[in-house]
Amino acid sequence: MTTTNPGTGTDTDTGSTGDPYREVLREAFVRRYEDGADSWSEEPAMRELVPLLRTELAAGSSVLDIGAGRGRDAELLLAAGHRVTAVDLVRLPDWDALTSRYGDAVAFALGDFADMADGRTYDAAVDNGVLHHQDPAGYARYLANVRRRLRPGGLLAVSLFSTAEELAEGVLNRAEDGRLSRWFTEREATELLAGAGFTVTAVRTVRRELPGLAYLLVLARRDA
Ligand SMILES: C[S@@+](CC[C@H](N)C(=O)[O-])C[C@H]1O[C@@H](n2cnc3c(N)ncnc32)[C@H](O)[C@@H]1O
Repeated sequence: MTTTNPGTGTDTDTGSTGDPYREVLREAFVRRYEDGADSWSEEPAMRELVPLLRTELAAGSSVLDIGAGRGRDAELLLAAGHRVTAVDLVRLPDWDALTSRYGDAVAFALGDFADMADGRTYDAAVDNGVLHHQDPAGYARYLANVRRRLRPGGLLAVSLFSTAEELAEGVLNRAEDGRLSRWFTEREATELLAGAGFTVTAVRTVRRELPGLAYLLVLARRDA
């Protein structure tokens, strides 16, 4: 894979796909990065997921970073000696520095994860802030896609929007730019992953600086 669009089945220059919500999501993220409004890239609570994954990750693992953004998690994984394939709807200049530094250990793909067609399976996948922005009607398909890309027993580390105080049930929000965000409860996250063929092995709530909000970090293994 190269840094330009290996195996994502989308337009190589734009990542465009034709699906209405996918376009809304892509355009919203393009705008956020262009405006320098990607606060998540430097948010300390966002960087707690990879350390949690590393507690169970074998040395020299292959990791798929879904919705890698600027590659902050990819960088942590590469620095720890893992190999990373990263995909995102938006191509970011930060990718070039990581490619120069880590060479063949890292590959970036522009496009929608749903269209990635590299045919590989990985030891682990990171989904840091991506699943909760997808259309809920597509969660099962999205997770089936993640599952297919993991070897049996492979690890999934996912960070989901949540609240500091547990809600009775999750909440779906829509931003002005049309981007969906779902707040999950621990029970919902566990059930969603179990239904998709994963066994949850660890759950951690990380409080955010934004009052009342948190990330729900979930580590799960692909069932055989
Ligand atoms: C909240 S940001 C998090 C970025 C990165 N994981 C991090 O930790 O900084 C979500 C990222 O997922 C990407 N994204 C959202 N849906 C995607 C999809 N279906 N396929 C690929 N990337 C996606 C967005 O472009 C954005 O960069």
